[in-house]
Amino acid sequence: MQPTIDHTLDIQKIRQDFPILDQEVNGRPLVYLDNAATNQKPIPVINALTRYYEGYNANIHRGIHHLAEQATAAFEASRRAVQEFLNAKHWQEIIFTYGTTDGINLVAQTYGRRFLKEGDEIIISTMEHHSNIVPWQMLCEEKGCVLKVIPVDDNGELILEEYEKLLSERTKLVSCVHVSNSLGTINPVKTIIDKAHEVGAVVLIDGAQASSHLDIDVQALDADFYVLSAHKLYGPTGMGVLYGKKEILDAMPPYRGGGEMIKEVTFAKTTYNDLPYKFEAGTPNIADVVAVKTALEYMAGLGKENIAAHEDDLLQYATEQLNELDGLRIIGQAKHKIGVISFVLDGIHHQDTGVILDQQGIAVRTGHHCTMPLMQRFGIAGTTRASFAVYNTRDEIDRLVQGLRRVQKMML
Ligand SMILES: Cc1ncc(COP(=O)(O)O)c(C=O)c1O
Repeated sequence: MQPTIDHTLDIQKIRQDFPILDQEVNGRPLVYLDNAATNQKPIPVINALTRYYEGYNANIHRGIHHLAEQATAAFEASRRAVQEFLNAKHWQEIIFTYGTTDGINLVAQTYGRRFLKEGDEIIISTMEHHSNIVPWQMLCEEKGCVLKVIPVDDNGELILEEYEKLLSERTKLVSCVHVSNSLGTINPVKTIIDKAHEVGAVVLIDGAQASSHLDIDVQALDADFYVLSAHKLYGPTGMGVLYGKKEILDAMPPYRGGGEMIKEVTFAKTTYNDLPYKFEAGTPNIADVVAVKTALEYMAGLGKENIAAHEDDLLQYATEQLNELDGLRIIGQAKHKIGVISFVLDGIHHQDTGVILDQQGIAVRTGHHCTMPLMQRFGIAGTTRASFAVYNTRDEIDRLVQGLRRVQKMML
């Protein structure tokens, strides 16, 4: 279905919120199409960081002085904002992490080590990012669990009938990406979760890519865990969120030991703090957590559905324009996609494509995108990936297409 574009989104005005976009690279205006790796930060987010360091930088929770109270209030207000963003039932279900990778490792190292045993099965999919493969492999190696993988069809969609065949009473955990960073595929995670629950398995959803494009409602999804990274949400790097159902998080042992995660420490015995602090050892990224609230407000101000409609328009336009190029093959043709296009050019290595585009001021990502098994599935070493955010324009897609014509002219 064609999206309805909300013409109240003034993209040129929005671009002014992102100072980084206003620069030349190699003598040409920058075209930033590497948003799936990290998107750019608007002035309000940058200002929130500066305001924190200029106005109320202090360590949180234990201080009784004014600045500590201010910093604590801002930190905890951010937790409430994330709770609302994900529609979590309890604020205690929001754990601040260093990012998606950290959240998945936390679950593997605590839930996995405590509750999984030899012979138990973990299901992931062929389109997982390495951060949703390796932590489970490490767990399997330690505990003797077995990793099973949902296959992907030629369009880049999960084969759900095969998923159902993998499920059994041995399945204890399913961990699946909501939106593929390499293909843009939006996976039917509600179905995946419901099927897993039928056999009593818990489910982790990797929302790194989904969270800036789709509405996320963890209660409606009935996800047991949901992880994301702030830097893909117009927020700061090195900061993320693990959502977990309260009763599951309560049952899990802590992850890192140290300050903040304890109630009482003696040399004989330590008791642990309540949620969410049990999982937040040490001084966190206070400034970055505070700025996440601003990033969420920024997106809400534009309207997430307006952002999605704009990106969808770019996706349709780019797909049409790229399909005009001889020798270009799009990898990932799922029916439901976000604004990510991966492609290969006949006879040209993706690395060369990326370098020649960069010479023209166009930033794309090339390589395996941390999804090597997916590349193996498609029999390729890597792709060139263009990925869109709210500030991108059709003119920039035209620049990409022109740039690719130049790549072909130079390389063939
Ligand atoms: C789908 C997906 N999962 C996980 C990650 C890892 O995120 P981070 O590096 O922020 O931990 C990424 C990052 O690109 C991703 O796209």
